[in-house]
Amino acid sequence: MDYLPLFFDLKQQPCLLVGGGAIACRKARLLLKAGARLRVVAPQVVEEVAAMAAASGGEVLREGYRAAHLEGCILVIAATDNEPLNAQVSADARARKMPVNVVDSPALCSFIMPAIVDRSPLVIGISSGGQAPVLARLLRARIESLVPAAYGRLAGLASRFRERVKAIFTDIDRRRDFWEKNLQGPAAELVFSGREAQAETLLEQQLQQPDTQSPRGEVYLVGAGPGDPDLLTFRALRLMQQADVVLYDRLVSEPVLDLVRRDAERIYVGKRRREHAVPQGDINQLLVDLAARGQRVLRLKGGDPFIFGRGGEEIERLADHHIPFQVVPGITAASGCAAYAGIPLTHRDCAQSVRFVTGHLKDNGANLNWPELAEPGQTLVFYMGLTGLREICRALIDHGRSPQTPAALVEKGTTPVQRVLAADIAGLPQLVAEQDVHAPTLIIIGEVVRLRDKLNWFTPASDRTAASH
Ligand SMILES: C[S@@+](CC[C@H](N)C(=O)[O-])C[C@H]1O[C@@H](n2cnc3c(N)ncnc32)[C@H](O)[C@@H]1O
Repeated sequence: MDYLPLFFDLKQQPCLLVGGGAIACRKARLLLKAGARLRVVAPQVVEEVAAMAAASGGEVLREGYRAAHLEGCILVIAATDNEPLNAQVSADARARKMPVNVVDSPALCSFIMPAIVDRSPLVIGISSGGQAPVLARLLRARIESLVPAAYGRLAGLASRFRERVKAIFTDIDRRRDFWEKNLQGPAAELVFSGREAQAETLLEQQLQQPDTQSPRGEVYLVGAGPGDPDLLTFRALRLMQQADVVLYDRLVSEPVLDLVRRDAERIYVGKRRREHAVPQGDINQLLVDLAARGQRVLRLKGGDPFIFGRGGEEIERLADHHIPFQVVPGITAASGCAAYAGIPLTHRDCAQSVRFVTGHLKDNGANLNWPELAEPGQTLVFYMGLTGLREICRALIDHGRSPQTPAALVEKGTTPVQRVLAADIAGLPQLVAEQDVHAPTLIIIGEVVRLRDKLNWFTPASDRTAASH
């Protein structure tokens, strides 16, 4: 190990920053966050740095650096583009045995600044010892995505209960068990989803009856997005990796499913062609039963669970049984398919609103308000519209929408086999009938579809392969 990682308490401590430009600004921000009092020395100091110095209760000296500026400070950072000056600051500080950092010059430093993931009071510092700073930054980005933003609040909760837990669990092993269970179990999830008061109640209950707690299950209703695993949210991924059992259906893509914890039990509850789906009531009950057994249950649904996903019904049953749950939104098919097909869903010139409509037509579409849907100036997105495509286009034309209105059918949107068929609403049904089209498909209707000619950017892997032959 070339450097010993240490965490420095700088609260109210005077620190010298030599330099007043953009680099100094970054360092000033960090020092201010750590509560230091800034003494900034430079002939020119940008407004932001001056403001930070003032906010820290420190001072700005608009003059050239002199060794006397080090007096009374406990550390110094040189952040100028003047190499001889930086070397001078380093030499002066070292002569006084004062910690010194010179930006981008490891040889002149007695300490270096790590890349920081800040979840105060939890702070992670990553250093490559100045050998590969970009690598340290890339690693930081990875950790940023893995550690929930609310980790600091979890640390706060732990700190509030620390003394009481210590008093109740005098045995260190039991104490450790308590914390391990709670810092990665339901209490932690309550904090991450913004329900701190409930997390406190849960810990209180466990402290009052430490020996009678049966394992407590919970359900995560998670939107898996339209197919591309890169479109998952950080929270979705984290819950997918900690669940004990997963219930999923047809719309959840294989690459997304691959990201679920390897040893989690998998239960398929969808419908395959000519087979029956597990009835919704049975799925609702299964969620309750699994959670009641103490399992962390992941209910993974394509797209967003609250958009044509019956997610509401599933959690209603959980609420009736007082099973804790949380809902993680996903990218709905309309957003995913439109983005990957190069079709903005709204546009100032041609679509001031967008409607998500079910294309699952009952009684020849009598359940939809066709006169409203035929109004111009809006984009219509039909989910589950493949079977009823001809009726949908017919009804729109019959109710006054121009037969030349552009439309697109997006097949398996956002996946490597995405296909887009575009025509006007008079011609789309015939075009689709001539192709071998497979679910899932989404239909987008409106002037915005024209923009695709210019804005299409996504080349599915299947097209790339075809082009290279
Ligand atoms: C029962 S709905 C579920 C919608 C989902 N909850 C969502 O927010 O996207 C199923 C319909 O979503 C659409 N869909 C979902 N994923 C799709 C994809 N990758 N490509 C095209 N359409 C998709 C299709 O219209 C499909 O019939």
